Amino acid sequence: MIKKTYEKYVLPKMLDCCCSTKPINYQRNKIVPKASGTILEVGIGSGLNMPFYQKSEIKKVYGLDPSEELCDMAKKTAQNLEINIDFLINGAEEIKLKSDTIDTVLITYTMCSIPNINEALREIKRVMKADAKFIFCEHGIAPDKNIIKWQNRINPLWSKLFGGCNINKDIPEILNTNGFKIESLDQMYLPSTPKIVGYNYWGQATI
Ligand SMILES: C[S@@+](CC[C@H](N)C(=O)[O-])C[C@H]1O[C@@H](n2cnc3c(N)ncnc32)[C@H](O)[C@@H]1O
Repeated sequence: MIKKTYEKYVLPKMLDCCCSTKPINYQRNKIVPKASGTILEVGIGSGLNMPFYQKSEIKKVYGLDPSEELCDMAKKTAQNLEINIDFLINGAEEIKLKSDTIDTVLITYTMCSIPNINEALREIKRVMKADAKFIFCEHGIAPDKNIIKWQNRINPLWSKLFGGCNINKDIPEILNTNGFKIESLDQMYLPSTPKIVGYNYWGQATI
């Protein structure tokens, strides 16, 4: 009961707030404008990427997220920005789209929260066209031993508070082992952000 109330009324606002810092928005601006054609945004959340879309490049957007509350928030942003979007209220482990239909998969700060990431990436690959691009920006495991130690210590509690978000995922390793070809990869600690949650990986991959 308390968990349900927290997930419905507190968590969506908390995620929206934590994911809209200046350094994170700076990251969004580096990758979101690269999305084009028919786009699948995985874990669209409250729609914080939408203002960064290059509207003239969009044919259609599918916004996928298991949280109805977050999709409702994203819907309002989409209406304000007049973005042509359909919502898929579901986890990425099952994507209700036909195979080979997506030109761009956009995923930001979400791979950390998907319970079965291997299954989700298999589904994502299924819906991507052969020449589709996968553009990502994620936080994950830091390069420094001392920070990793704290990431591992804090992760169990963090995950409970932040909707299953894990702060110690090796993003490039996950993409490589799931058969993605990483074409560009940048990484750094975000400024003005605690190091345990601020190590970012961003770039582009193909299948
Ligand atoms: C930290 S939020 C990031 C939201 C958004 N991508 C952004 O950049 O602001 C993590 C998101 O992952 C979503 N999520 C959780 N489980 C998921 C799953 N199985 N498949 C897809 N998204 C999921 C959550 O509902 C939430 O919207």
